[in-house]
Amino acid sequence: AGGPWEECFEAAVQLALRAGQIIKKALSEEKRVSTKTSAADLVTETDHLVEDLIISELQKKFPSHRFIAEESAAAGAKCVLTPSPTWIVDPIDGTCNFVHRFPTVAVSIGFAVDQELEFGVIYHCTEERLYTGQRGRGAFCNGQRLQVSGETDISKALVLTEIGPRRDPATLKLFLSNMERLLHAKAHGVRVIGSSTLALCLLASGAADAYYQFGLHCWDLAAATVIIREAGGIVMDTSEWLLRAPGRWRRS
Ligand code: IPD
Repeated sequence: AGGPWEECFEAAVQLALRAGQIIKKALSEEKRVSTKTSAADLVTETDHLVEDLIISELQKKFPSHRFIAEESAAAGAKCVLTPSPTWIVDPIDGTCNFVHRFPTVAVSIGFAVDQELEFGVIYHCTEERLYTGQRGRGAFCNGQRLQVSGETDISKALVLTEIGPRRDPATLKLFLSNMERLLHAKAHGVRVIGSSTLALCLLASGAADAYYQFGLHCWDLAAATVIIREAGGIVMDTSEWLLRAPGRWRRS
């Protein structure tokens, strides 16, 4: 039997699949590319088209709901998470991959009520893999249950990270020093796939053991957070970690 947000979840799945078809088709076509906050922060007409499609369809079905979405935020919309049902949307996660026809791109749709994440839907557009997580009901990829790896030893771990769009000296220094520390700790490997949501889905699948990134936005994280938690993993903000007792982060 479905939970109270089942209709919303079903709508998210349908829209992610529909958006995924548009993105997959557009991947091999010519694109008009613009930049946002830096020369490596890219956006295309497909990002806008897909975001408009997702929001307009959801608004028709759920007129009282609120939205936080990547390209609307870039255009100046405020990102406020109120207790109202709120959709958190990244129309194309991996836009840089998309621009280069590197086939690791996803649609990410998260949903929160009372400021708590209820479900997440992430669709890997080219491999046609649908990742879903519903609070208290598990995480799945194309119907198969997901479980994180459980590895705790960094010297036995495969670690995922993302570079992000910033190229200022301080950001680069931090990125490279973290990479150096991981390799000194003899991690089995470090991977950068160009889509934070899909990296997080791989983590939920147990295909990698850890993920970290600086400068993630809520639309990169919302849907994936539910999927990771439901796969038995934890998601933490390390800046908050410093302020809290470690036990607070354990799953209850
Ligand atoms: C970006 C990608 C990238 C990550 C950035 C994200 P976008 O999302 O996930 O891998 O490094 O931090 O903002 O712009 O392609 O939706």
